[in-house]
Amino acid sequence: MACGGDSHGKAPGVAAASAGATRDVHSHANPHEVRVTHVVLDLEVLFDRKVLQGTATLSFERASPQSGALILDTRGLDVARAEDSPDGRTWTETKFDLGPTDKILGAPLIVLLRPKSDRVRLTYTTRPEASGLQWLDPSMTAGRQHPYLFSQSEAIHARSWIPIQDSPQVRVTYAATIRTPKELAAVMSAARESGPDRTGVTRFEMPQRIPPYLIAMAVGDVVFSPIGERAGVWAEPSVLSRAAAEFADTEKMMQAAERLFGPYRWERYDILVLPPSFPFGGMENPRLTFATPTVLIGDKSLVSLIAHELAHSWSGNLVTNATWRDFWLNEGFTTYFERRIQEEVFGREREEMEAVLGRQDLEGELARFEPRDQILHIDLSGRDPDDAATRVPYEKGALFLRLLEETFGRREFDRFLRGYFDRFAFQSIETGDFVRYLRAHLLDRHPEKAAAIPLDEWIEKPGLPAGAPRPSSSAFARVEAQARDWLSGRFPAANLDAKSWSTQEWLRFLRTLPSPLALDRMRELDRDFRLTASPNSEIAFQWLLMAIPARYGPADARLEEFLVNIGRRKFIKPLYEELCKNPEGEKRALAIYRKARPGYHPIARETVDRIVGWKG
Ligand code: BES
Ligand code: ZN
Repeated sequence: MACGGDSHGKAPGVAAASAGATRDVHSHANPHEVRVTHVVLDLEVLFDRKVLQGTATLSFERASPQSGALILDTRGLDVARAEDSPDGRTWTETKFDLGPTDKILGAPLIVLLRPKSDRVRLTYTTRPEASGLQWLDPSMTAGRQHPYLFSQSEAIHARSWIPIQDSPQVRVTYAATIRTPKELAAVMSAARESGPDRTGVTRFEMPQRIPPYLIAMAVGDVVFSPIGERAGVWAEPSVLSRAAAEFADTEKMMQAAERLFGPYRWERYDILVLPPSFPFGGMENPRLTFATPTVLIGDKSLVSLIAHELAHSWSGNLVTNATWRDFWLNEGFTTYFERRIQEEVFGREREEMEAVLGRQDLEGELARFEPRDQILHIDLSGRDPDDAATRVPYEKGALFLRLLEETFGRREFDRFLRGYFDRFAFQSIETGDFVRYLRAHLLDRHPEKAAAIPLDEWIEKPGLPAGAPRPSSSAFARVEAQARDWLSGRFPAANLDAKSWSTQEWLRFLRTLPSPLALDRMRELDRDFRLTASPNSEIAFQWLLMAIPARYGPADARLEEFLVNIGRRKFIKPLYEELCKNPEGEKRALAIYRKARPGYHPIARETVDRIVGWKG
């Protein structure tokens, strides 16, 4: 059952919000009894100690007057004091207790409530190792002068910097006062108060109800440049103009998205370009997408990342997965929607290429994964939800929606999707809510067509159903033909049409080559196209991934440099895995990781520690 109320300003009332909602196995909180609705943060950013210190004031609603305790999620928070208040004016200290720590979930914080109180205020400090924060020394920034801090709350890391009901089925509005060194700027996933810059105190207000995993903050030497009516970029000064140029089509993307699926409801869409240790490509923090700098390559060829994060303004931020097992509702819809935006702004050919690469990625994973990890509606009990962020929810989910589009026709499917976003706007829903809506508003209206969709197989079963769409690209067919001719010796590499290839065509070309590729072939490509030195992060990554099994020595130094300077998990995880396929490579992996690890985000460390068997 959907939860979260239907308009962004209005809290839904606990009873209405919770009827039938499934318990979230990744939260200790008790929103069905006492539900947090509004959060006020007052935090000081202490770079020398690498901690945040201050207060979180939580307003709540009770299901019944008997509900006498508020249960929150925490991970590694040092809580000094809890107070409650019936009106926000008089505060009285109240009892609280930190329960036992679960390795994945962290520890519940139980706060006793007086009968009349409607808010609690917690005074707390985070830890330097908080999983949802990365503290960067100046040497890890572009400017090398100032430290930098950023948060990453999805999936369940908000609790490592805010004591909160950290479940996507709880939606809150928030306000914040962030206290920083005067020479730095603070940004958040919220409206920023206008006023003089860099006073050391910045205030924010988020009037729309969002799940806690979308609360985000960054502090550093960042500056702003507008790139459209409603869009702009934040970045360190030396990165700003490159970022503004790369993302110049953002307003066009917004207009395309609105034509497809309805109004953009978050007022502004800004992009923060982070330092290269940011562990993701992008994160859809509302009003302020966080993005990796590795897409700034000067030709706009990797901006599907922005199409993706922007698409989350509908699928994910407006209509949110109620639990992490419904993650495909966020990412599958967004990947489908991302490709629709790409088609509108850059044309069908580009969209087809990206869809083909997506299906190829998915097939690679399906060939390796256990059946239980191939399911859209995945059972994650006892598991870390970060482990579910595979290609399955993204690409299998997108293929499912593409099948619906192909079966019912684009017009009918677009009408359906627009209705879906309107119906569930500002709510958190489960897979079952979607399936019921799908039946009532699409399948049952066209029973003959619906008969061709094996719904249960798509959503509940491993693998790809037989009729799964097979995107195809004629540009890729040409690239493949060229690769064959070169491999068979019909012409030298210099004769490849590579001058005109897009990033996507290069990726396809490299991925069709056999592995390991013979050393003389590696040498020939590198001589003619300078792949080891490629400034294009996607191409360099693909090339390095081939260089490891090919034992291509001239790329050794570049591999180390790449792994030490970039912390994006999508790149570093496969590279370490490839290295660790034999004992010799394993040694090399460890030697590189020893240098790289201090610069990696806690989430990236967690991933690579496991791959290389890190023991400190
Ligand atoms: N919301 C995700 C990032 C995420 C997923 C963070 C799960 C934590 C847990 C974001 O929208 C995303 O999907 N990013 C992709 C880029 C995208 C173009 C596929 C990424 O970072 O690779
Ligand atoms: Zn996403």
